[in-house]
Amino acid sequence: MQNIAVFTSGGDAPGMNAAIRAVVRTALHYNIGVKGIVNGYDGLINGDIIDMDSRSVANIIQRGGTILKTSRSEEFRTAEGRAKAGRMVKEHNIEGLVAIGGDGTFTGAEIFCRETGITVMGVPGTIDNDLYGTDYTIGFDTAINTAIDAIDKIRDTADSHNRVFLVEVMGRHAGFIALEVGIGGGAEAILIPEEETKIEDLINFFSKEKRKQKSFSIIVVAEGDDAGGAFDIAKKMKAAIPGFDPRVSVLGHIQRGGKPSAYDRLLGSRLGSGAVVELLEGETNKMVGIVSNELVLTSFAEAIGKSKQVDRSLLKLASILA
Ligand code: F6P
Repeated sequence: MQNIAVFTSGGDAPGMNAAIRAVVRTALHYNIGVKGIVNGYDGLINGDIIDMDSRSVANIIQRGGTILKTSRSEEFRTAEGRAKAGRMVKEHNIEGLVAIGGDGTFTGAEIFCRETGITVMGVPGTIDNDLYGTDYTIGFDTAINTAIDAIDKIRDTADSHNRVFLVEVMGRHAGFIALEVGIGGGAEAILIPEEETKIEDLINFFSKEKRKQKSFSIIVVAEGDDAGGAFDIAKKMKAAIPGFDPRVSVLGHIQRGGKPSAYDRLLGSRLGSGAVVELLEGETNKMVGIVSNELVLTSFAEAIGKSKQVDRSLLKLASILA
């Protein structure tokens, strides 16, 4: 292998830059040329491809976002788009691709590998932590720390006004962020998509006399919760509980930005470097991950097909501690 290329795709995640840096510098260490694809799959389709050297990844390890930009490509979902991308790979003499992203990225990569025979290695980068085959994804640790920071601030105002706050965190399909943020943020209730939310139970709980003696509360809601978003839930509770006047705070994209934590820098560095080594070993159509502190490979099919389970004992812990 003489030449590889790296790109980021899907939602950006803090630590992606550390992974890009590790890909570039590991490739150069093994005397492999390395290119960067700008804008994810869209950049691959349009030939937005740049040469990279050691200096092009200098001073980025501490930066959030992704220096290579990212996209959620509609065109790559089409066979024509993928064929165009395949032609670009050949035109630029790229023999291996490192794809940094989440389940959407690997769904595309899996089809692309099968259709074109092009070699692809995945690096899990998403704040959602919802990929099978790795204990943690790049960006999750920073995102939960950002959210906890925000909740600490919300607690000050909640305490001052004796208010209940519903704080909505990211996670369309998964409650990993909500669960860990809820426990770390001292939430009284945590609502996640994996567990049916019974609004009646919530209403009963917050109607209790004993509960009313508490000055304030935080309820953490994953954006993909089955009972709706934080605004919907707050509305239903307000209508059912006399005198209940909660406030809602949607943390949104703040959770995706900011400088990566030490953990995400380390994870990005290990996984980015590991991906290059595995490509050189001839591996393809797989994702690198870290399970119990060991670098492991999981096929794209498994990484996207199997679902990583939230640790339900944490839900129990949250209710004990509430
Ligand atoms: O997958 C990461 C994520 O931040 C999800 O938690 C969230 O639901 C989604 O991306 C938002 O995507 P976008 O930035 O495209 O609106």
